[in-house]
Amino acid sequence: MITESNKVINLNAKKEDRVLDFSDFQKQSIKFDIDKLQEAYNQIVKIKKFEDAGVTHFGAISLTQIPGDPDSIKGNKARGIFWTKPNKTGKEVVRDQAIDESSYSEFVKDYENTYFKEVHDILSKKYKLGRMRILLKEPRSTLSWHRDPEPRLHIPIITNPGCIMVIDNVAKHMPADGSVWITNNTKYHNAFNGGEENRIHLVACVLDYKFN
Ligand SMILES: [Fe+2]
Repeated sequence: MITESNKVINLNAKKEDRVLDFSDFQKQSIKFDIDKLQEAYNQIVKIKKFEDAGVTHFGAISLTQIPGDPDSIKGNKARGIFWTKPNKTGKEVVRDQAIDESSYSEFVKDYENTYFKEVHDILSKKYKLGRMRILLKEPRSTLSWHRDPEPRLHIPIITNPGCIMVIDNVAKHMPADGSVWITNNTKYHNAFNGGEENRIHLVACVLDYKFN
């Protein structure tokens, strides 16, 4: 008998029997206006520069902060704790510092007049969110192979066909069409931009979403 997992790796399986399991990429029922998202992004980059948070080819603009605490989005707080396997030993190490995600409840005032405020308010009613950020992935660049403490919500704003997220052994491109995705970042994953333009996603930490 051919099991579901055998179909993924068993090249002897008949073509119609082969399946890939995309359940770590979950498209949500809610959708936003992609033109308004791109307009809001253009407004924000006029106000604020991306923080590199000590990582090359990466940038973040935080949309939420700890109430009354602008320092809560400075420096490596634009990044946050993760685990990675950096060398040939395959041994896991921890990087950066833990963040109290649930305390990031205040939308940053500078961006209140953008569409992102509306997006934030709608999503906050539907999900228990941690930090919400605009993340930049530069052309021809990759993240580390890592896992995060919680799932992440993604809304692609600017992308290209060479922008791929890989979770475990499954790779997927998420189009910039206003769709909302929740990805299982508690498994080892990576994202690369193999195109020649910046990739821009709205990304929020999701504190109450369970993957099976
Ligand atoms: Fe991640």
